[in-house]
Amino acid sequence: MKKSLMNRRDFIRNSAVAGAATALRPKIHSATGPVAIASRNGLGAVARAVEEINAGADALDAVITGVNLVEEDPNDRTVGYGGLPNADGVVELDSAVMHGPTGRAGAVASLQGIKYPSKVARLVLQRTDHVLLVAKGAQDFARMHGFSIENLLTGEAREIWVRWRETLSNRDDYLPPHGPDDVDLGQAMKRSYEHWGTIHCSAIDLQGNISSVTTTSGLAFKIPGRVGDSPIIGAGLYCDNEVGAAGSTGRGEANLENCSSFLIVERMRMGDSPQDACLYACERIAQNTHLARLQNQAGEPAFNVSFYALNKAGEVAGARIRGAAQMSVADKNGARHIDMAYLYA
Ligand code: GLY
Repeated sequence: MKKSLMNRRDFIRNSAVAGAATALRPKIHSATGPVAIASRNGLGAVARAVEEINAGADALDAVITGVNLVEEDPNDRTVGYGGLPNADGVVELDSAVMHGPTGRAGAVASLQGIKYPSKVARLVLQRTDHVLLVAKGAQDFARMHGFSIENLLTGEAREIWVRWRETLSNRDDYLPPHGPDDVDLGQAMKRSYEHWGTIHCSAIDLQGNISSVTTTSGLAFKIPGRVGDSPIIGAGLYCDNEVGAAGSTGRGEANLENCSSFLIVERMRMGDSPQDACLYACERIAQNTHLARLQNQAGEPAFNVSFYALNKAGEVAGARIRGAAQMSVADKNGARHIDMAYLYA
């Protein structure tokens, strides 16, 4: 049977028969009161978001304060300051926010020189009649609101970029450090860093209102001007105050082509649990991945996308296309990592 013709139950069953999806569904976590979820790199962010909410903050401000910790962390290579640069060695950031109670969104893309793109995205939401500002326009807007322009390329990120540049090809004149006997100096650099990173964070505050943020430096060494899923409402995040919220990390191109965060929230509106809704989005991407260059030998997506979701009742879960992983959650029991569901082992 062609994968695209299978219904969802057949797809999961067939995947399991083929040896994939062996640990599909970890226990669902649910919380009463404030709760925040994030990607694995957001353990500090969810703890901070819940702290802010308990002190009376709106969920939007709480999640932004939470992810600011990661945006300013020089050791996270996938977000904000210290993020890996584009192919020209320039850090370009994408971020979006969405505020459940007003249904408003704000976003920035290809933003250079501003450490906290999520704060600029919030200003787009609060102080413009637009949703998305890009590149120089986004930077000028941030400067107008008092942000200073900084060099976001840390010494370590620059060295990784130089190593990438020098080992990209043996048909150019850049050379990595080498000895007199070395011959092939153009082998692709061993990927000892996350090629796709990002942080997503969503939360429910004391009023039961939901808000979300996603922020990233995007794909490492991307073509300058490339924009991923993170700043695109409906892809990198989506939030509906009556239903729940969802967000993503991973291969942005696959998510952009499937509008997955909107899909997840709509599936929850139809009655899916957050976990089922996230798995549904993973299946949709798998079904829509037709190109051999994006598939492994079994015809499965050879890349990963991860989704994180919570519903109005405080149930939280995440799912990804490939392999076991964890996400972050914080509630009245504190901050911790929990297991995510996945489609293929
Ligand atoms: N998901 C982040 C990106 O693709 O840029």
